[in-house]
Amino acid sequence: MTRAFNFSAGPAALPDAVLERARDEILDYQGSGMSVMEMSHRSAEFIDIATRAEADLRELLGVSDDYHVLFLQGGATTQFSAIPLNLTAAGDTVDYVNTGSWSVKAIKEARKYCEVNVVASSEKSNFDRIPDPGEWHLSPDAKYLHICSNETIGGVQFAEAPSSSVPVVADMSSEILSRPIDVNTYGLIYAGAQKNIGPAGLTVVIVRKDLCGSARPETPSMLDYAVQADADSMSNTPPTYTWYLAGLVFEWLKEQGGLSGIQAINERKAGRLYGAIENSNFYHSPVEAGVRSTMNVPFTLPDPAMDADFLAGAEERGLKNLKGHRSVGGMRASIYNAVSEEAVEALTDYMLEFERERG
Ligand SMILES: Cc1ncc(COP(=O)(O)O)c(C=O)c1O
Repeated sequence: MTRAFNFSAGPAALPDAVLERARDEILDYQGSGMSVMEMSHRSAEFIDIATRAEADLRELLGVSDDYHVLFLQGGATTQFSAIPLNLTAAGDTVDYVNTGSWSVKAIKEARKYCEVNVVASSEKSNFDRIPDPGEWHLSPDAKYLHICSNETIGGVQFAEAPSSSVPVVADMSSEILSRPIDVNTYGLIYAGAQKNIGPAGLTVVIVRKDLCGSARPETPSMLDYAVQADADSMSNTPPTYTWYLAGLVFEWLKEQGGLSGIQAINERKAGRLYGAIENSNFYHSPVEAGVRSTMNVPFTLPDPAMDADFLAGAEERGLKNLKGHRSVGGMRASIYNAVSEEAVEALTDYMLEFERERG
């Protein structure tokens, strides 16, 4: 069996150790005689899995008791609606920063419920930067300020939460757990699982408790944070197996030295890849220096006509899922937590080889 070097943007690579443990436990979870997939979510075994996963996630991110940690469904996309439904009343204004395709989608959905003020946008320069916070046009009465802290398609990442007098809401789908963050600088953090948390099917929401409990009356119960918090995220049958796998990923992360441990590895990986781009006259990063993502690295070749050959050669070497998003072109390497340093080294070796042949 050969495992590919998988640079998929999501669903994405999972740690081998996690998959091996899931394999070992798949028919008989710790002497229960059944798979976690087959257990009642109300069983003592599953409650223990769920509780440990939450405790480990809280420990990793340093989440205080002032926040609920919810394990929900519907993907990050469902949160684009759940957030305004929970945090605003009809007619309220909300502030959004537009730094890429995922910001655009969040803004479009929020417009169904609120007055959306786009405080700044980098759309004119094809989302290659974060507009200078000194020039954002904040509303005086916004209920929250929304950012996408890491744009998966454009590869633009915020260094930290912007300073704000209203709660900062962050879509961290493609960077959560890649580095330590100060949760207390956010009102709400949300993330689809299928990059750094586990398989698709789970959405993590970390929300300050005082922001819950005033959802609009028409909010579906499944989307109401207070309802889900009261039910320990089990107001219906949760995605039990994904939750279990997420728990295994959290344990694996603790073994890597927690978030500062994984951050050091991630910085080496990103440093190597951006170094390969910067040190060549062949590859080019479309993103401004200073805001380049450590998780999603788009890069272009001198001529789009070379893209197909580059991808074919990559495939032959087991380097998978490198094709860039059509809005940016070229390549995109997603180097999430589970993508090894060895994988990044194999990619940069191949880049050098291709440049020597074609440059
Ligand atoms: C930054 C970001 N936000 C939102 C989404 C949408 O997530 P989901 O497919 O879980 O709804 C994605 C998906 O890739 C993403 O990268």
